[in-house]
Amino acid sequence: MKTHIGIVLAIAAGLAFASCSKLQSDNVLATTNCTSCHGSAASPAPPPDAAGNTSTSTPAVGAHLVHLYGSAFASKVACSSCHIVPQSVGPGIHPDGPGSGNLIMFSGVALTQTNMPGTRFYDSTLATVVPQPTFSTQTLTCKNTYCHGNFKGGNNFTPTWTVVNTSQDSCGSCHGLPPNDATHRGKGITVQTCYYCHSPMIGPDGTILDDSMHVTGNLVLYGRSISAW
Ligand code: HEC
Ligand code: HEC
Ligand code: HEC
Ligand code: HEC
Repeated sequence: MKTHIGIVLAIAAGLAFASCSKLQSDNVLATTNCTSCHGSAASPAPPPDAAGNTSTSTPAVGAHLVHLYGSAFASKVACSSCHIVPQSVGPGIHPDGPGSGNLIMFSGVALTQTNMPGTRFYDSTLATVVPQPTFSTQTLTCKNTYCHGNFKGGNNFTPTWTVVNTSQDSCGSCHGLPPNDATHRGKGITVQTCYYCHSPMIGPDGTILDDSMHVTGNLVLYGRSISAW
């Protein structure tokens, strides 16, 4: 009987995870080493946090899951994009070693630079955007990340880590539809026509067709993925 219940639970868990797609492949895999203190079988990231909290309004839990699994339209974010991740556990290493203490230190996609000199669409009247993101443990907000719009023509939105509803990742929060810049302004472009130039990331009705191509650091333009822009 026990085995049967186990199988049913495993199938139920499988379905639950299938619906929120795969975990970012370069995220640290769950090991008992890590998850004995925080995180679940899926990932060492909270929920739950080290104190057992599971609510997204708890700072240590916050918006981990939407970043790790990706939302309906954005790619998955690696742990290391936001903070240092210890690779092992032990006295003087983790959780009490140097660098411990919820150290938020951005890297990777969060630091993507845009309007780079020498690139095809370089605009010398605008500054090169060099994101220097910060996380405030007081206000729990993330400022100046590439991901939320600190790029050429973007809105540089400041999201709050512990507000997890659709209010902060709605279409138009990180960049306009279209962005308010010389390339797009005054051309009658609507969300239904983005695909003329930004296919195959986006489709004719403004639906994100491939979430793994969006918020990656690369600009999808004229059917190509451009890594420096
Ligand atoms: C989008 C940015 C982001 C990503 C991606 C991210 N984290 Fe975090 N993480 C945070 C923030 C913000 C906090 C809260 C910091 C604070 O409270 O000062 C945090 C806190 C934590 C904590 C502290 C828990 C506690 O009890 O204090 C752990 C553990 C953690 N993250 C693990 C991970 C792991 C493992 C991954 C990847 C599987 C990951 N995080 C991915 C931003 C991120
Ligand atoms: C013995 C319990 C324990 C184990 C095991 C453990 N952690 Fe932690 N971890 C903590 C605590 C407690 C915090 C919160 C630290 C703080 O608030 O000062 C934390 C925080 C973190 C953070 C947030 C950044 C930081 O340094 O504070 C990350 C990332 C993290 N852990 C990843 C891991 C990973 C990956 C593993 C497995 C290799 C792991 N932890 C194993 C207790 C543990
Ligand atoms: C969390 C911030 C964020 C939100 C919300 C967001 N975008 Fe984006 N978008 C970006 C970033 C960052 C880029 C720059 C290129 C990249 O990294 O993919 C971008 C680029 C684009 C592009 C250019 C093609 C590409 O992917 O490079 C289109 C078209 C686009 N977004 C449409 C949308 C639509 C439609 C929505 C609403 C469903 C939306 N975006 C919501 C961050 C966002
Ligand atoms: C007629 C072609 C065309 C259409 C239609 C178009 N774009 Fe673009 N888009 C471009 C070009 C060219 C660039 C690169 C220009 C640059 O970097 O200055 C670009 C760049 C972008 C960027 C990167 C930031 C920026 O402003 O350079 C975003 C975000 C973006 N487009 C979103 C959109 C969205 C959303 C739509 C639909 C509402 C859209 N675009 C429709 C041609 C187009």
